[in-house]
Amino acid sequence: MVHPERMVVETIKEINPGKIVIFGANGMLGHALQQVFPKAHCFGHRDGEITNEDAVMKMVKRERPAVIINAAAYTDVDGCEDNRDHAFAVNGYGPGYIAAACSEVGAILVHYSTDYIFDGTKPEYHEDDLPNPLSIYGESKLMGEVSIRKNMDDYRIIRTSWLFGSHGKNFVDTILGLSAKIPEVRVVNDQIGKPTYTVDLAHATPDIISRAPGVYHITNDGICSWYEFASAFIPNATPCTTAEFPRKAKRPGYSVLANTKTPPLRHWREAVREYIQTKRNVV
Ligand SMILES: NC(=O)c1ccc[n+]([C@@H]2O[C@H](COP(=O)([O-])OP(=O)(O)OC[C@H]3O[C@@H](n4cnc5c(N)ncnc54)[C@H](OP(=O)(O)O)[C@@H]3O)[C@@H](O)[C@H]2O)c1
Repeated sequence: MVHPERMVVETIKEINPGKIVIFGANGMLGHALQQVFPKAHCFGHRDGEITNEDAVMKMVKRERPAVIINAAAYTDVDGCEDNRDHAFAVNGYGPGYIAAACSEVGAILVHYSTDYIFDGTKPEYHEDDLPNPLSIYGESKLMGEVSIRKNMDDYRIIRTSWLFGSHGKNFVDTILGLSAKIPEVRVVNDQIGKPTYTVDLAHATPDIISRAPGVYHITNDGICSWYEFASAFIPNATPCTTAEFPRKAKRPGYSVLANTKTPPLRHWREAVREYIQTKRNVV
């Protein structure tokens, strides 16, 4: 099998043989991307602050990459409600600065967005459906998409949902921790979506880079509620409603991203089994 990174390098070698930069490399998805692109130049929050327009431009001009992958974001959905300006700076303006820099050096930009740009009132969302975010996080991520489109053409915006994986705060780890501590774990059963393993999303990324510019919906296959998701890996989940478990930010009730452009990834059940097995092997 051709290694995914080689596939990308071959796809883009006419532009510039092979330099890839990753922003947000120390996040949950960033770590998975580092495995797929082992030779990439990786920037974490400390050395790659995406809200600093000048610094982003200078750094990109210095590196002159063929591809920039932006996994940096402010992902605390409830925290965004209290920190509106910060949410827009990181999720809204930051991607625009990276896009302008990409345009300057002729690089492709891969950027990750979210199902939370939709209001969750449709049975599924296609890539060209009209967004209507319910939260500051969703609004700020939508602004990120718009800022990218304003600044460049050669982008791949990958919308994804319900991420889980190593090196980050995520639902699977939280629920596993609670399950070991308390007899019953109440989990909402009226929010439906598509869980996605960071490893699978990272491995899907080279193929997206080789495709036409545009928006892509990439998630694991299969649809479930948070309760059904939890029940797949703990024995003591009990269902509750969103009304019984109020949160600061409003979430879409039915946010199912339909992927109409690329082959489906494996089912989330298989992916979560593998993730939990990997965690056991590490312990
Ligand atoms: N997690 C999900 O369920 C989910 C669902 C749909 C879409 N997404 C999208 O998928 C992408 C990856 O998410 P993730 O879960 O991997 O996020 P994550 O684990 O929170 O990682 C984000 C990374 O970005 C860094 N960062 C934050 N502000 C920054 C700034 N101003 N400049 C540079 N770096 C900054 C963070 O560093 P610090 O920790 O030091 O701040 C962190 O390392 C994001 O675009 C997110 O919106 C996530």
